[in-house]
Amino acid sequence: MQHNHARRMSRLILTCGVLGLLSAPQVLAEVQPMKQSAEVEAKINALIESMTVEEMAGQLTQIWGSEVQDTNPVTAKTKHEDLLGQIRAGMVGSLLGAHGAEYINELQRAAVKESKHGIPLIIGNDVIHGYRTMFPIPLGGAATWDVDLIEKSERVAAIECAAMGTHWTFAPMIDVCRDPRWGRVAEGAGEDPMLGSAMAAARVRGFQGKDLTAKDTVLACAKHFVAYGGAEGGRDYNTVDISLQTLHDVYLPPFKAAVNVGAGSIMSAFNEVNGVPASANPYTLTTVLRDQWGFGGFVVSDWSSVTEVIPHGFAVDAADADAKAITAGVDMDMSSMSYREHLPSLVKSGKVSKAVVEEAVRRVLRMKFALGLFDDPYLDTELEKKVILTDENRALAREVARSSFVLLRNEDSLLPIKDDVKSIAVIGPLAESKRDPLGTWAGVAKAEDVVSVMEGLKSRAGEKVSVRYAKGCDISSDDTSGFSEAVELTKDSDLVVIVIGESAEMSGEAHSRSSVELPGVQRELVQAVAKTGKPVVVVLLNGRPMALPWIAENIPAILVTWHAGIECGNAVADVLFGDFNPCGKLPSTFPRKTGQIPIYLGHKNTGRPPTTERYTSKYIDLPWTPLYPFGYGLSYTTFGYSNLNIASSDIKRDGTLSVTVDVANTGKVAGAEIVQLYVRDLVGSMTRPVKELKAFRKVTLAPGESQNIAFDVAASELGFHNWDMEYVVEPGEFQLWVGGSSTGDVEGRFQIVE
Ligand code: BGC
Repeated sequence: MQHNHARRMSRLILTCGVLGLLSAPQVLAEVQPMKQSAEVEAKINALIESMTVEEMAGQLTQIWGSEVQDTNPVTAKTKHEDLLGQIRAGMVGSLLGAHGAEYINELQRAAVKESKHGIPLIIGNDVIHGYRTMFPIPLGGAATWDVDLIEKSERVAAIECAAMGTHWTFAPMIDVCRDPRWGRVAEGAGEDPMLGSAMAAARVRGFQGKDLTAKDTVLACAKHFVAYGGAEGGRDYNTVDISLQTLHDVYLPPFKAAVNVGAGSIMSAFNEVNGVPASANPYTLTTVLRDQWGFGGFVVSDWSSVTEVIPHGFAVDAADADAKAITAGVDMDMSSMSYREHLPSLVKSGKVSKAVVEEAVRRVLRMKFALGLFDDPYLDTELEKKVILTDENRALAREVARSSFVLLRNEDSLLPIKDDVKSIAVIGPLAESKRDPLGTWAGVAKAEDVVSVMEGLKSRAGEKVSVRYAKGCDISSDDTSGFSEAVELTKDSDLVVIVIGESAEMSGEAHSRSSVELPGVQRELVQAVAKTGKPVVVVLLNGRPMALPWIAENIPAILVTWHAGIECGNAVADVLFGDFNPCGKLPSTFPRKTGQIPIYLGHKNTGRPPTTERYTSKYIDLPWTPLYPFGYGLSYTTFGYSNLNIASSDIKRDGTLSVTVDVANTGKVAGAEIVQLYVRDLVGSMTRPVKELKAFRKVTLAPGESQNIAFDVAASELGFHNWDMEYVVEPGEFQLWVGGSSTGDVEGRFQIVE
């Protein structure tokens, strides 16, 4: 059944054009690491011809290769020699977890000079949101809605990690996620396929640059293919059972965007998709990725995800799992070493054809050539000192961090902090933390490099404003014994900045939470402090959208800062003191309560959309709206939208929706606005989401300044997959909104015509 759909799909994609954000011709010209010259292809073929199946399986094997941390010098040496021995024997094609120029040069020498075929190693690592210079978690990055800034941050990450020996990053993580209980929501771009596609493309461009052979670029790996973010109940590694339409219209577009800009590798996911594990799924890995999209890079499994198809109930044993995974399209086996153990006998017995193994090796070798590893695999050991954690890198981290902050509330312009504030009480368990701002996947980053919120505020406040601290409580304990000190300090201060939220460990892999409310007694702490009547600013450090209804209603100023990276404290000070005007917008809906999940912008209307009428789709104990909608975020200025103009209200299926709107800064300070365009396809052969983001633009305006903003959206981007899994752009009426959030400020209508 799936395969019939698949065949049909490939025909349609070819005739209907591309699904997704960027058009293929535009990007193929820019980065095309897959295509190798005839000369290189001949070298690859010659190598493959000279290799045994065992050696080929070695190329398809990635093992953990970090420097041995063993205090016993004898066992340390043995383990190190063992690793070198495996490399010399051609049993290893790739390592993960290895860092440091000298160390990697040594491993590389064993591969290039001391193994039979002299094939260089490819070193992969998780460089998810920075290397030593840590940027905001990717969810925060997405809140910038600033693709240029995100591209730049990944360029810095690439320069730093490449100098330390990484050739290949297991990023970007581009799983769409509509259930913030899932801990890995922190690693992606949030709930929306369009914003997710834009971020995916930007990150791939940043990592891979224009020339993959350059020493400061790294191969990207779009992960986790696919629909991992759809895990039931937000529980990590859990089952994903979604329609093929949702798979194609929601979860696949960011991957398509990554492939379009030339991402050289893809990681297959842990989860199953509709009954077939993603790491042995011929439909997603071959039909979609290879046949329909023409992906020419290689696919690596996730950590042991090949052998995990056994507990999924999809293979009887490891050999069976390997046969299914490699045939489906997983080229390289991360960490389990199962390919290495079983591929030779599988080829011998005819269960896996030799051609399949050869093709997998060909794909891996192409990337090694594309990276220039055959020409010069060695690292300059002096480089790391020069390029890591430079002042410029730190400055960029500060810029990305402050651009990612979302101001949720600012009653009576409590912020920015006014000159008459002479004493600030800083309260809360996260104010002094230097570890938590690093967030999940901090890798080689160091807490000592982090500017905590307290440090940032103190250094900005200078001599004239006293900044004193009381913790109040821990992040997650029930202990309220610190409240009184916090309350006393509050009483003695002009303003309170209370820094609460989640620790770094509360999100990320295997860190799903059953609740997205504030952990511990933090809300009670805010309540105790607020009772004093002093003005309170809540600064939230968080790895996911959170439910904070009491705070949203009672606390006048709320700033979401995610886990903002090493410049967290300086960036918070920039925003609180008004040196930087906040401009971030939510990349994910904030619910009122955990029980409201899933709540997201692109939902369907139902036959009984919620109203005050009893028999409509809602809960009896909650309003039906979210706490804060997708795309929402305030500024210290205000923006006005007017003169919406749709160039033609009748648009042909191969035409373009052209929209212009005037955006004015109607406040007193300069500010940046994220202008967002949404549509709703009112009637379709399948029901359509109530709103879909189709375009956005960041614009900076001086007070009183107005700009005419133009958007062009190809009608081909207004389609969807119908019941028969054909990508269609159907004639009919659409509603359109433009504004500073998904609620829209101005609206219009147009129609698609035959
Ligand atoms: C994660 C991947 C990661 C890999 C290697 C896995 O557990 O799911 O995202 O790239 O480990 O560290």
